[in-house]
Amino acid sequence: MRGLILSGGFGTRLRPLTYTGAKQLIPVANKPIIFYGIEALVDAGIKEIGIVIGDTAEEVKNTVGNGERWNITITYIPQEAPLGLAHAIKISKNFLKDEPFIMYLGDNLLKQGVYDLVKLFKNKKPNALILLTEVANPQEFGVAVVDEKGIVKKLIEKPKEPPSNFALVGVYLFDEVIFQAVEHLKPSWRNELEITDAIQWLLDNGFNVESQIVKGWWKDTGKPDDIIDANLLVLEDIKSSNKGTLIDSTIHGRVEIAEGAIIEKSIIRGPAIIGMNAKVSHAYIGPFSSIGDNVVIENSEIECSVIMEGAKINNLEKRIDRSIVGKNVVINQTDHSPRTHKFILGDQSYVQIIK
Ligand code: TTP
Repeated sequence: MRGLILSGGFGTRLRPLTYTGAKQLIPVANKPIIFYGIEALVDAGIKEIGIVIGDTAEEVKNTVGNGERWNITITYIPQEAPLGLAHAIKISKNFLKDEPFIMYLGDNLLKQGVYDLVKLFKNKKPNALILLTEVANPQEFGVAVVDEKGIVKKLIEKPKEPPSNFALVGVYLFDEVIFQAVEHLKPSWRNELEITDAIQWLLDNGFNVESQIVKGWWKDTGKPDDIIDANLLVLEDIKSSNKGTLIDSTIHGRVEIAEGAIIEKSIIRGPAIIGMNAKVSHAYIGPFSSIGDNVVIENSEIECSVIMEGAKINNLEKRIDRSIVGKNVVINQTDHSPRTHKFILGDQSYVQIIK
């Protein structure tokens, strides 16, 4: 069975981060999000993965590589524009060779992995197997109506009046009939070939679509708060290790400290991760923080945040909380008069200052 990971798209909801980088490469617990998807497929025994790429193709290729590090083969499939998840399947037909496959959205995280799903699909051989989870806001998702056996009866994309609370999660298993389905689709109002329409086509034509309910958590990292929550969920499972240097510092709970990191006169309260060659000095790093490689944090307090590589944070009077700080960002506070704020912020940056 082959794997298809979707790593195109615009990522508009994650601007400004996605102006300069692919959303699938944003780090969660210091690891690019897409790596979690690749590793989930590898754990399920998949050896050949196709990755659909868009405008951020080069960056994705440079970071992910040819699959050697996981002992698999990765093939890149360029998509001319984000024309929909079903469009991504259509253009991947040659790679998928008309065989069953698993499709995984490159910005999704699934605690349970996909091992059991792949096994179930191989045993039961439905035409499609989709994954569902109960959500509080079904209006924002593709929603499924299922019978008591988990057989899918109907799908609706972002319904105004949701018939159920079961939303589609970004993992789908298909046999070759999906290629017929995608040939019959017309673009939706947002000019995309919708995966929900493709699955609905299967239902309308008498094919068998089964579902499973997600065990454990699932996270679609579409918006900034989702990244912060995903980081928190992944850090829940982090193990303690220390390859760095501690000087007059205290570590509470589970903290992973990478090679070359220096923690000096600081308190770190896990779960947290500190990247390679990071420097934390006279600082407090609180639970659910990911501090990237080469980050410098001095005289400041950070909690429940993602601080990306190369960022420098100095002398902040107030704690940084539930924040995302991009690569090489500098934030510092000075005592100099006049007491002004100085900002050099990219488009759609977000700053909140509390008096
Ligand atoms: P979305 O989050 O639905 O779309 P997006 O990435 O364009 O984000 P936004 O709505 O904020 O602009 O996409 C889900 C995943 O699928 C994501 O990893 C991007 C990928 N994708 C493709 O590879 N090709 C596509 O045509 C689409 C629509 C998405």
